[in-house]
Amino acid sequence: MMENKNLIDTIDRTRLPKHIAIIMDGNGRWAQQRGEERVFGHNSGVQSVRETAEAAAELGVKFITLYAFSTENWNRPKDEVDALMQLLVVTISNEVKTLNDNNIRLRVIGNIHCLDPQVKKELEEAMEKTSGNTRMDMFLALSYSGRWEIVDAIKKIVIQVKEGKLELEQINEKLVSANMNAPDLPDPELLIRTSGEYRTSNFLMWQTAYTELFFSSKLWPDFRKDDLYEAIIDFQHRERRFGKTSEQIINCKG
Ligand code: FPP
Repeated sequence: MMENKNLIDTIDRTRLPKHIAIIMDGNGRWAQQRGEERVFGHNSGVQSVRETAEAAAELGVKFITLYAFSTENWNRPKDEVDALMQLLVVTISNEVKTLNDNNIRLRVIGNIHCLDPQVKKELEEAMEKTSGNTRMDMFLALSYSGRWEIVDAIKKIVIQVKEGKLELEQINEKLVSANMNAPDLPDPELLIRTSGEYRTSNFLMWQTAYTELFFSSKLWPDFRKDDLYEAIIDFQHRERRFGKTSEQIINCKG
């Protein structure tokens, strides 16, 4: 009889993506399908965040970045924005213990000055309390958009030029990367988006130039460990060429 292997056993641990970025989409539809308010979907999405973070850390992934609140999300009805902010406050403070138990460091990218002061305070406390953790970094993208981050980097670079600390000739891709929100965060090898939408919606625009995209039909609150494993297995079956030919990769090891 054929052995019925668990999905996790088919993952090649030597070829894991170091950084996985995730667009958590479909909370609203998930709630509506159940005749509930959209915020019920956001609340239910927290369990998916827990499972995904735990699964990634257990496998040995070093960074995950979760798109939790986009710049555009500020345009949602005030009730929903308030509920999401409240959920973030409660969730972040509740999860500190689990993050510490799993040796996960919480970090953030985005325009956090725009956040509700209470969210900012909880976030800063949680980042401080988890700052010594070393197994995996979990980045929350909050009040974030890729274009905003690029504009922010341009401003930082222009200031350095104006102050005479930088010459025009020194501006290159490496320098732009170094002026992103988290310069030590490597580009993601894999980006997952749930809910069957085929867009990247202004997420990590600079960093995803060569990222493999995986679209799951699952709505975010239904996303579980096996769904993460499936995305990683799919990623491992792809050939990443970075503009080279297959032959170059086989003969010259990239
Ligand atoms: C997108 O679904 C989801 C969001 C805008 C919020 C994501 C937030 C969470 C999962 C909860 C808290 C997370 C953390 C990290 C503490 P949508 O509302 O756009 O769904 P729809 O496309 O079906 O309308």
